[in-house]
Amino acid sequence: GIYPKIIINFKAYNEGFGHSAHNIAKASEFVSEQSGVLIGVAPSYMEIHPISKHYEIPVYAQHVDAIEPGAHTGHILADAVRHAGAIGTLINHSERRLTLADVSGAVDAAKKANLQTVVCTNNIPTSAAAAAFSPDFIAIEPPELIGSGISVATADPAIIEDSVKAVKNINSNVRVLAGAGISTGDCVKRALELGADGVLLASGVVKAKDPEEVLFNLVSKI
Ligand code: G3P
Repeated sequence: GIYPKIIINFKAYNEGFGHSAHNIAKASEFVSEQSGVLIGVAPSYMEIHPISKHYEIPVYAQHVDAIEPGAHTGHILADAVRHAGAIGTLINHSERRLTLADVSGAVDAAKKANLQTVVCTNNIPTSAAAAAFSPDFIAIEPPELIGSGISVATADPAIIEDSVKAVKNINSNVRVLAGAGISTGDCVKRALELGADGVLLASGVVKAKDPEEVLFNLVSKI
């Protein structure tokens, strides 16, 4: 499999679709090529197909539903996401929280569709619980720091270290991403020093005037 070190979540920001989504995807592709650090993107559903056609980068959905193909109006089918060109999906983001049963169902649906799974968690016990589903990644994001501009790597280093321990204790194959408030190469370096395998971030890149400049900075200390 192809496992990025950095994943950019476009959320539902204005900058996350259309021209600026392409701009961020293009910058991610360019910075990946230049630095050798693989960067993935999680754009809105509507951009999955065009972005995966136009750019050589791993594309993720922001969510899939725990459903089988059939009569489920308004739901997001893992197979459809895969068919559109995504190689994986986020599951259980703090802004798209699921019950534990639905996390399990969404992980199963994604795996069946051959999608990588990135299960987001908000604390150490949920990280440990999610590890039992053997996703490809767990992304630990303290909700109070999301979008704050205050980096989890400096504000709450223990949550990264302890999540890594809790996750690897249950399944050492699961990669751990750290997220919330990450915006610089120093944050990324610190997260990796604390045991994370990579980072998940949004506003630092998506809301930036020059996403390419921020992306170059993010990979500068790896
Ligand atoms: O999924 C990433 C995200 O929740 C972190 O957001 O804006 O703090 O990088 P941000």
